[in-house]
Amino acid sequence: MRIAATNADLRIIMLSNQAADGKRSSLHGHWSSRMAFVLAVTGSAVGLGNIWKFPYIAGQNGGGAFVLVYLACVVVIGMPVMMSEILIGRRGRRNPVATMELLGKEEGSSARWRWLGAMGVVAGILILSYYSVIAGWTLAYVVKSASGVFVGASPDAVNWQFSNFVGDWRLIGLCHTVFMGLAVFVVARGVERGLEQAVRFMVPALLVLILVLLGYSINSGFFGEGVSFMFTPDFEKLTWNSVLAALGQAFFTLSIGMGAIMAYGAYLPEETSITGASAAVVMADTSIAILAGLAIFPLVFANNLDPADGPGLVFQTLPLAFGQMPGGVFFSTIFFVLLAFAAWTSAIGLMEPAVAWIVERYNKTRAQATIMTGLTIWLLGIGSVLSFNVLAEFKFLAGTIFDNVDYLTSNIMLPLGGLLIVLFAGWVMCRNSTSDELGSSGVLFKTWRVLARFVAPIGILLVLINAVL
Ligand code: TRP
Repeated sequence: MRIAATNADLRIIMLSNQAADGKRSSLHGHWSSRMAFVLAVTGSAVGLGNIWKFPYIAGQNGGGAFVLVYLACVVVIGMPVMMSEILIGRRGRRNPVATMELLGKEEGSSARWRWLGAMGVVAGILILSYYSVIAGWTLAYVVKSASGVFVGASPDAVNWQFSNFVGDWRLIGLCHTVFMGLAVFVVARGVERGLEQAVRFMVPALLVLILVLLGYSINSGFFGEGVSFMFTPDFEKLTWNSVLAALGQAFFTLSIGMGAIMAYGAYLPEETSITGASAAVVMADTSIAILAGLAIFPLVFANNLDPADGPGLVFQTLPLAFGQMPGGVFFSTIFFVLLAFAAWTSAIGLMEPAVAWIVERYNKTRAQATIMTGLTIWLLGIGSVLSFNVLAEFKFLAGTIFDNVDYLTSNIMLPLGGLLIVLFAGWVMCRNSTSDELGSSGVLFKTWRVLARFVAPIGILLVLINAVL
């Protein structure tokens, strides 16, 4: 009760601040520095998407051509969407729903833009429902690695470990529960105390471990095969569905299209360069995905595995490599700890739009809002837990429940959200509002505007129409 009253007080202070100097400030605090913002966005971007999802999606879609389309999507569509999302967030300074409603009115359009924010809140909840299940696997793999079961293990033994593990719904359900508990814990603590600390050491440390793996891969004797699988495009294999998968992966891995970056942008100080921050995040995220692919595919070929094997790919290749390495128990344990951390910092971002919305809209404390959101996500996640065992044969549309939630969010909701975001920033907002935030009228601003008004929307529409309709 007392804290709820504090929230209400804050809101009054916020509104009067706005009247005084015309600039809004956020209810939830601000990042302590530009570096803190870049770190937090990088922490949300770098996650299971880079290390778990990118390799298996690339594998399922035939490699080279897919990777090329993915890179193109990141640069021409991902970058302008990310910049638009940050600038909208910073201008509105609220949760994505309220920000879209406010700016929709302020820019002379409609309060109904709030539904774009609402779609983001829902997308975040749906993504985290299965993301948490996979993140739970990484927790279990920390324990497995430390126990030494992978030392000198054969490909069959590692496969057996994996299928046995995911076949046990109680066990992976427990891991999902533990992971959600960790996510709720950090989010409940609030923006600065929770988010910043976690990211500071995780991304650099993860990079080091991937380089260790890469070193092993280069010596595996199959590095050439891995490189050519990833970079020799065979456009015959490229269907519209693979192009959509590449677009969806670009959105997923950059955390864009659902208002998470908008929510983070709301805490961004006025003077930070949005272009610079976006470029840094995009580069860090893309390099980590490519390096992970380069580390994993040679191992796939060296062990006669199938690159199209699906969600188990990293869990079946990396333990093999670690099992052969001197000091493998140590490296393997650290690697899965870091992967769990990477997933953790992403989970925080996935919850943020929902939590910020509940706090502002229903006047709840951050802790209450986080627990409510966490419970909803946990419950939805049971569907994905069962997709790998009890309900593995229960298939419709895109496949299992897990496959459908993944397809709906990555391939439909995120691109659609991204489309509406660039349309809003490029066409609804007036030129001055955007140049005000992006801070220049030079070449960079003009390039962003052309990408946001024409290239990105047309690109997204073309892919969505051809693949879905
Ligand atoms: N980018 C994250 C990853 O690669 C997943 C993700 C998608 C995400 N959307 C997000 C994370 C929004 C935080 C916020 O693993």
